[in-house]
Amino acid sequence: MSDEKLSVSKIMKGTAIDHIPAGRGYLVQKILKIDPKARAVIIANVDSRQYGKKDLIKIEGKFLTPKEVNIISLIAPNATINKIENSEVVEKAEVKFPDVIEEVLKCPNLSCITNLENEPIVTKFIKVGNNSVQCYYCDSLLKYGEIVDNLKL
Ligand code: CTP
Ligand code: ZN
Repeated sequence: MSDEKLSVSKIMKGTAIDHIPAGRGYLVQKILKIDPKARAVIIANVDSRQYGKKDLIKIEGKFLTPKEVNIISLIAPNATINKIENSEVVEKAEVKFPDVIEEVLKCPNLSCITNLENEPIVTKFIKVGNNSVQCYYCDSLLKYGEIVDNLKL
């Protein structure tokens, strides 16, 4: 099947997340905790003019919150979020890396309070500089390149 045909299954109302790095569509699906009953597809490894190959996700009947949109940037910094109504794209948004990231990341420091079994403390990372985030509790640093390996999925 041609890439054009594959991407053709248009949705009526919902969200199409475009320009996800190839192979990362399933991570975006997991981090958004898309309802297993939702009518959704991941289209993997289609040709992209900008990136060579890319993944795409389409979710019928779901619109993303601003928080969800920005969480996607951890995995897909160049993603485009297309809001679709009556089968038309009514809004296109870019993702923005958040200043504060709660819940979705694990702290790499095993003795951090967020990793202690009996302390159900939700993780919190703060963006520092241009390429790292820092644990609010123990100050451990995570470089952007390490984020994908430290997702709590
Ligand atoms: N889309 C969809 N269902 C619709 C309309 C659009 O699934 N009813 C999807 C398209 O398949 C595409 C994305 O939403 O993946 C964006 O659509 P569109 O803006 O028409 O495509 P492009 O112009 O290629 O987008 P861009 O310029 O952002 O690359
Ligand atoms: Zn920590």
